[in-house]
Amino acid sequence: MLERSLVLLKPDCVQRRLVGRVISRFEEKGLKIIAVKLIAVTPELARRHYAEHVEKPFYPGLETYITGGPTIAMVVEGPQAVAVVRKMVGATNGLEAASGTVRGDFSTSNQMNLVHASDGPESAAREIGVFFREDELCPYVPTIRPWLRAPDADA
Ligand code: CMP
Repeated sequence: MLERSLVLLKPDCVQRRLVGRVISRFEEKGLKIIAVKLIAVTPELARRHYAEHVEKPFYPGLETYITGGPTIAMVVEGPQAVAVVRKMVGATNGLEAASGTVRGDFSTSNQMNLVHASDGPESAAREIGVFFREDELCPYVPTIRPWLRAPDADA
C-alpha cells in the first residue's frame, strides 16, 4: 500500500529558490519525506540515474543541466506515492503541464522542468538505490496519521 518515489529537485529548482515551495506541496498533500540530501550530481551518477535516456539525442544537454548545480534528492513515501507525486509534478514539458502542477505552475521548458519523479514502483526502487543507501532512509509513522486518512486505509 505505501509506496516510495525518488524525487529530485533539479538545479533550476535550487537556483530559482523554489525548493521550499515544491517541498511544501508534498508535505501539504500528506506525503512523508523519509530521506533528503543536497548533492552535486556527477556525470557518472547522471548516467546511472538516467540510464534509459543515455542514448537519446537530448542526453548530452540533460547531463550538462543535471550536473550544472546542486540538486536535492529525496525519498517521498505515502499511499500510491509514485502516481500521486507524478500527478502533482505534471507532464514533462512545462508548456504542456496542467496548471496546479509544479511544472505547469513554474516551468516553461521541456528540459528545465524543475523536478524528477519516479515513473513506477520498480524504477523508484532502482532510482532510490542510485541516490541513497538503505541506512540513509528514515521511515516513521507521523503522529498526525489519524487525521490524514480514515482508519480503513482506502477511505
Ligand atoms: P525527468 O522527469 O527528470 O526525466 C528525464 C529528463 O530529460 C526530463 O525530466 C527532462 O529534464 C529531460 N527531457 C525529456 N525529454 C526531453 C527533450 N525532448 N528535450 C530535452 N530534455 C528532455
